[in-house]
Amino acid sequence: MMCRSGIVTCQARAAADGRVAVGRFTDPVSIRMLRAPERAAVERVRSAAEPQRTMAWLRYRMLADLADILAARTVAIDDAVRAAANPQLVVLGAGLDARAWRMTELAWTVVFEVDHPAAQSDKRERIGDADPAAASVRFVPVEFGSAALESALEAAGQVASEPTTWIWEGGVRYLRKPHVERMLRGIAARSAPGSRVIVGYTTRTVHSVLLAPWGVRLWLTLAGAAGAKREERIRSLWTPAQIAALCTAHGLDIDTDEDLLGIARALEIPYESPEWLANTRVAVADLP
Ligand SMILES: C[S@@+](CC[C@H](N)C(=O)[O-])C[C@H]1O[C@@H](n2cnc3c(N)ncnc32)[C@H](O)[C@@H]1O
Repeated sequence: MMCRSGIVTCQARAAADGRVAVGRFTDPVSIRMLRAPERAAVERVRSAAEPQRTMAWLRYRMLADLADILAARTVAIDDAVRAAANPQLVVLGAGLDARAWRMTELAWTVVFEVDHPAAQSDKRERIGDADPAAASVRFVPVEFGSAALESALEAAGQVASEPTTWIWEGGVRYLRKPHVERMLRGIAARSAPGSRVIVGYTTRTVHSVLLAPWGVRLWLTLAGAAGAKREERIRSLWTPAQIAALCTAHGLDIDTDEDLLGIARALEIPYESPEWLANTRVAVADLP
């Protein structure tokens, strides 16, 4: 079963398609991975004017705000993937990530989707036999924090001596710091020079410490998607300096580390929630 946050981020990308950052963001695949009631929430945001009733308005606002956040984050990450143009892409905590099915630039890239086994089997059911845009997609079921990441990637055919782009988007905060460090060790162990690591993370600010746990629970509840709450507890928040130190410790040089507020402004997204955008960052680090 997909966790609720994986479904809600997919709903947000579907809600953003054709409405937010038009010309820079497009994702026609996400809507196809949603079940009927999940799609209905997206259609309300895509087609209706803001509802008047309080609960309906809250549901609408949460998904509409998240659509702005996801459009900005997706554009930043897609740009970094394109610029690296590596032959392998590993998507950690892939959830309902649609890149392997929508990014034509991946036509020569082998994509490895790593996720919790239950979430991954749900994803496979949802995507069905849709043709990938990538050269191929390999599913790698792994419970993070275990030593299995490296051996599972080896078994799936990821070649450690070839450059790899890694995306870890929106999942760092669900792991404790020692587990995040363990993940970076695994990434470094399977990365050749020229590899790139892209991390979308939530920063440690007064806003995120005090409001994020409450806010995340609220929007997940309002979204009404079913799933395992245990996986969605926030276990670590990071400052840019801590992310930089973590990357440096594993031989990675930070290329960029931007907050989504700046990215949303550059994309001329008329956002409503500057705090949420400012608390989310995308760091890009390269292995020389
Ligand atoms: C918020 S979702 C993000 C999904 C996707 N990256 C996106 O941005 O839409 C977090 C993902 O991390 C995965 N995840 C969380 N904790 C995990 C763990 N301990 N082991 C494996 N996967 C985990 C979940 O299954 C889920 O797919």
